[in-house]
Amino acid sequence: MPDAQNQIVTVAVTGASGAILAQKALALLEADVRVARIHLVVTEAGQRLFAEELGLSSGDLRQLPDRLLNRPAAKIEVLPNKDVGASIASGSYAVDSMLVIPCSMGTLAAIASGVSDDLVSRAADVMLKEGRKLVLCVRDTPFSRIHLENMLRAQEAGAVIMPAVPSFYHQPRTIDDLITQYVCRVLAQIRLAQEQMYRWTGHPAPKEAKA
Ligand SMILES: Cc1cc2nc3c(=O)[nH]c(=O)nc-3n(C[C@H](O)[C@H](O)[C@H](O)COP(=O)(O)O)c2cc1C
Repeated sequence: MPDAQNQIVTVAVTGASGAILAQKALALLEADVRVARIHLVVTEAGQRLFAEELGLSSGDLRQLPDRLLNRPAAKIEVLPNKDVGASIASGSYAVDSMLVIPCSMGTLAAIASGVSDDLVSRAADVMLKEGRKLVLCVRDTPFSRIHLENMLRAQEAGAVIMPAVPSFYHQPRTIDDLITQYVCRVLAQIRLAQEQMYRWTGHPAPKEAKA
């Protein structure tokens, strides 16, 4: 299937460890000519994670994309998580795909049980009911039975469960190598395969491979 053009993508950031994954996903999406619009929703705990892990203190949320990317982020529109009446809360608004990156166990539970009391869980609910692509980059360790059952429930409803687990077959040398390969694999799930994604060919990666 060919890659799509003029994609509208929702990126939800929740309070699980891995704010750097959201930062990388937003940078790649912003730079991708196939992406027309990115709707960004950050939960309260997600904002805290940006502060704890990236040193980005919460201020005016509308300035967050530029601060995250260190340059003007023209395609990214920040939507308040409390605004359950925002565009992406309706199935009539044509979002092509949604990433929850990283996805906390709390948000996973809300999605798996259909609780739509904030914009992240409502937008995810819409993706499932409309049969659109929803990728949950879940992160915690270890997983409890409740977490695992919620993952199964969400997967059975159509979500892709993409645990924030790095790979090593591409011989990463830096944290950025690990992050980039993982995020590229996430983007490939929404038909936005990236050139820098390492693809296994049956042989070890050449030594100069970056990600
Ligand atoms: C520094 C920090 C790291 C956290 N890491 C995780 C995590 O990896 N996974 C997780 O499920 N929750 C984690 N939490 C807990 C969630 O943030 C918490 O359950 C929160 O209520 C989730 O809310 P949200 O889903 O609305 O973002 C972490 C919290 C903090 C402060």
